[in-house]
Amino acid sequence: MQRIPEPELMEEPRQAHSYAEADFSDATRLFIDLFANNFPRHRPRRVVDLGCGPGQITMAFAAAHPGSQITGIDGSSTMLEIATERLRQQSTLTRRVEWWLTRLPNSTTRSYDTLISNSLLHHLHEPQILWRQIQNWGASGAAVLVMDLYRPSSKAEAARIVERYAADAPEILRRDFFNSLCAAFTREEIHQQLEISGLADFQVKVVSDRHLAVWGILK
Ligand SMILES: C[S@@+](CC[C@H](N)C(=O)[O-])C[C@H]1O[C@@H](n2cnc3c(N)ncnc32)[C@H](O)[C@@H]1O
Repeated sequence: MQRIPEPELMEEPRQAHSYAEADFSDATRLFIDLFANNFPRHRPRRVVDLGCGPGQITMAFAAAHPGSQITGIDGSSTMLEIATERLRQQSTLTRRVEWWLTRLPNSTTRSYDTLISNSLLHHLHEPQILWRQIQNWGASGAAVLVMDLYRPSSKAEAARIVERYAADAPEILRRDFFNSLCAAFTREEIHQQLEISGLADFQVKVVSDRHLAVWGILK
């Protein structure tokens, strides 16, 4: 199946709220475990979460790494309003987590030792935006973990995945999930993106029946 891009930003309030209310605890756990297993000796200090949405992974990552200071970035003010409210309820994290409303690419000078991102890549119409941003903001030796959906072979397979994981979800969430699967990249396409951006030594692995992960250390 050819890729069918979807809108980049999730700004519509009903869409953002139904995404924020969905149970993504399995994906969050998978992400936190992938980081722990692939970077066992890395101690995150200055972390950025690109396309953080309502901030579930941002806050779980902060909780898992008590020495870290994390900036969650998103271009959707609706998403960051939800993230702000959620952070207010997690008083132990408020000093270590901040939100930054900005649409990538962003040319500000920054330096992070840890760069994470979940489910942003498939939203980007130009995927090099993510890989260039990671290189621009990542310090030498920085740990990078990107997780995303991968594109199934057909729309019928995408519909089966939606049934398997979101049978009882609100229609707007089912629609977004289907569109995201159709907008996602294949493993081969991501390999090509990494080759083009000079990150060919990064690992790309399928980590569930719908997710793949990319990780590596910046030179
Ligand atoms: C599917 S959500 C993922 C949210 C979160 N990372 C998670 O795992 O739950 C993708 C997010 O990326 C944001 N986004 C898409 N394109 C962006 C861009 N160019 N710059 C900043 N944020 C972007 C969207 O607004 C949305 O909140």
